[in-house]
Amino acid sequence: MADDFLPIKGYDHIEFYVGNARQAAHFYDKAFGFTPIAKAGLETGVRDRASYVLSQGNIKFVLTTALTPDHDIARHCTLHGDGVKAIGLKVGSVEQSLAAVKERGATILKPATAMEDEHGQLVVGEIKYAGDTIFRFVERENYRGAFAPGYNALEVTNSTNTDSPVGLAAVDHIVTNVHLNEMNYWAQWFEDIMGFKNLLHFTDEDISTEYSALMSKVMENGTGKCKFPINEPAEGKKKSQIDEYLDYYYGAGVQHIAMNTGDIYGTVTELRKRNIDFLRVPDTYYDMMRERVGDVGEDWDRLQELGILIDKDDDGYLLQIFTQTAQDRPTLFFEVIERHGSRGFGIGNFKALFISIEKEQALRGNL
Ligand code: FE2
Repeated sequence: MADDFLPIKGYDHIEFYVGNARQAAHFYDKAFGFTPIAKAGLETGVRDRASYVLSQGNIKFVLTTALTPDHDIARHCTLHGDGVKAIGLKVGSVEQSLAAVKERGATILKPATAMEDEHGQLVVGEIKYAGDTIFRFVERENYRGAFAPGYNALEVTNSTNTDSPVGLAAVDHIVTNVHLNEMNYWAQWFEDIMGFKNLLHFTDEDISTEYSALMSKVMENGTGKCKFPINEPAEGKKKSQIDEYLDYYYGAGVQHIAMNTGDIYGTVTELRKRNIDFLRVPDTYYDMMRERVGDVGEDWDRLQELGILIDKDDDGYLLQIFTQTAQDRPTLFFEVIERHGSRGFGIGNFKALFISIEKEQALRGNL
C-alpha cells in the first residue's frame, strides 16, 4: 500500500515477563518445542535481569525475569503474573516508524536506540499499547547475531525438538483483552496511530452463550502481516471469560497468541505427547460441524480424536485448537491454527468453544 506510513515486515519477537525465566524456558522448550538460542544475564554483564530467547520456525519468544526485588519487571509480575510485556514488530527503520506514530499521537516509551556488537547493529524503540503492554519496533537488517547485542548465542544441545519437532511455523495473530467500552477506543487507536484497518467485527450477538458474551474487532496492518483482534466483555448472565481475564491480569493485556502450523495433526499429536492440555469440546460439536462444514477432505475421526476445531467461510476453511491457560492465573493461553484459504478466526467455533471455556471456568469457581 502506497499510503502505508508504517510498513511492518512481520512479528519480530514476543517478550514475556515471568517470575522464573529459567523454569519458564524449560516449559516452552520441553512442552512447546521452542529451542533456546540465546541468553542474557549476569554472565553477559546484565546485572538486573535474565532473558532467554527461544525459537521455533519464525517465532521467537523472549522470557525475562528480574534479578532484584525493586524492579519494573518484578512489579509487573507481582501485578499481572507471568504475561506478555512486549510485542516486537519488524520494521525497516525504527526512527521513521517512531516519528510516524508519534506524529499521530503515540506515547513513546523508548526513542530509537541503536545497540552494537561484533555481529552488527540492532535498533529498537518502544510505544505504549493497552494496559502495561508495549509495542517494540525492531530494525535488524544490519544485525547477524543470534538475537541482539548483550545476548550470548546458546549451543543447541537438546535434540528432542530436532528429532520430534512440534512444527509451529509463525505467529498468526495476537489477541488483546480490554475493559468494557474500550474495544472501540483501541480499534480507533490502531487505525489512527498505526494505520491498521478493521478486518472483521463480531458483536455479542455473534459471540454469546447462555452465560457470557464478548465483542471483538480484528485489526490488520497495511501489509497484512499482523493481525490484532481486540476483545471486550459484553453483558451476560454471569462473568464472561474476558472479565475473568481482566480480574486476574489486573488490567488489559494479551489473551492469546495464535501460531500457524502446516500440519496441525502432527503438531497437536506432538504437543499432547509433551503433556500440553487443550480445551475439550463436546462430541456433539463434531456432529454439528460435519453437517455445517461438509466434506473438505479432512479426516473427521482424527479431528475428533485430537480435539481439533474446524470452521469454514467463503474463502476456505481453517483448523484450530486452544490450549488451557499457560500459568496458574487464568490469563494467557495459546492457539494452534492451520489455514486453508480462510482468513477468519473461527467465528463458527466461538460458541462451541465458549461452552467449553465456561465449563473450565465453572470448575475454577469463577462462573
Ligand atoms: Fe485466535
